[in-house]
Amino acid sequence: MNFELTDEQLMIKQAARDFARTELLKGVIERDNKAEFPAEQIKKLGELGFLGMMVNPKYDGAGMDAISYVLAMEEISKIDSSVSVVMSVNNSLVCYGLEHYGTEEQKEKYLKPLARGEIIGAFALSEPEAGSDATQQRTIAEDKGDYYLLNGTKNWITSGKNASVYIVFAQTHPEKRHKGINALILEKGMEGFETGAKEDKMGMRGSDTTSLMFNDVKVPKSNRIGEDGFGFKLAMSSLNGGRIGIAAQALGIAQGALDLALAYSKERKAFGKAIIDHQAIAFKLSDMEAAIESARLLVYKAAWLKDSGKDYTHASAIAKLVAAETAMKVTTEAVQIHGGYGYVKEYHVERLMRDAKLTQIYEGTSEIQKIVISRGLLKR
Ligand code: CAA
Repeated sequence: MNFELTDEQLMIKQAARDFARTELLKGVIERDNKAEFPAEQIKKLGELGFLGMMVNPKYDGAGMDAISYVLAMEEISKIDSSVSVVMSVNNSLVCYGLEHYGTEEQKEKYLKPLARGEIIGAFALSEPEAGSDATQQRTIAEDKGDYYLLNGTKNWITSGKNASVYIVFAQTHPEKRHKGINALILEKGMEGFETGAKEDKMGMRGSDTTSLMFNDVKVPKSNRIGEDGFGFKLAMSSLNGGRIGIAAQALGIAQGALDLALAYSKERKAFGKAIIDHQAIAFKLSDMEAAIESARLLVYKAAWLKDSGKDYTHASAIAKLVAAETAMKVTTEAVQIHGGYGYVKEYHVERLMRDAKLTQIYEGTSEIQKIVISRGLLKR
């Protein structure tokens, strides 16, 4: 077992860290307050190749491995998860599906600009009545010969307003249940396709989460990804990788909070000494460090399994479950260590705590990860 990162992986980690510190830190509180989409920051991220990290250079991607992706996600999420969520969805849920299951024409037209970071993508699976229970798609893609007629509503869609390309899941053969679902590529501006208002979220307020409405949208058959009825499999396999990305995001949030709490504990004095010299605080910091390091091993292992071409379904669910729970616990403790200062925006930790909560909810709640894990156990 080799725990050493390669020179290239270390270089990517450093590049992501530098980017986060120079481009994201300044203005992160203001963007969060105003719920402002980080358009300029995402553009720069794309220019650095972080939006198509694992895509083959043949399709204009950076051709990196999943470990590098995890390292970059972690560094960026220490500072601004409103940026890293856009990065995660574009890489894991949009580029992944197009690269692995798209036609050459789809890759040429959609994957290349997405991988170059010129445009961003969205993944539209959730619906008002199909969140965790993703098989219950109410959006209908009626087969009309050479096109699908799409009707329905999606919600909680990351980058809903700012995306240019959308992978939309819809039911074509209800009698076949999840085997009747298709994945269709939609473009912004298609007739009958509208986006709803941006949700006023508790955390990751910069990223735009919206609903999508489809009213008799004609989607050419050539925009279907994979065979007829392949949509649910595509969604699940994309989410397996997506969960590694969100696990890395949770890890970064937790590490960011620990870094801040540690620095504060060394500076802040109470009862005649730095608070880190009080065992009550030192033990908290130790617990935070131990929890983060445990989560990190699980996240890196899931990425390593993906890079090794092995099944990572079980490992990605465990990584996401543990990293998200860790992020919530660690950020809560970071606020506690900061006392009153932790409760105000200037000190960053309250934002990290709000952001952490979302990692327990999206790309499958913690409870969904437990379903995936327990199904893995049953198969043993
Ligand atoms: N990987 C690969 N295949 C999977 C899979 C996985 N993780 N989970 C299920 N499947 C396959 C099964 O093998 C089965 O295939 P067959 O029909 O060939 O046997 C098929 O899918 C149906 O599986 P189940 O019978 O287990 O389906 P289920 O309805 O009982 O449960 C579930 C499935 C795991 C609960 C699934 O519905 C799920 O993951 N739900 C959560 C959805 C989710 O994560 N939504 C997040 C929205 S996306 C998002 O948040 C993005 C964003 O914008 C940030």
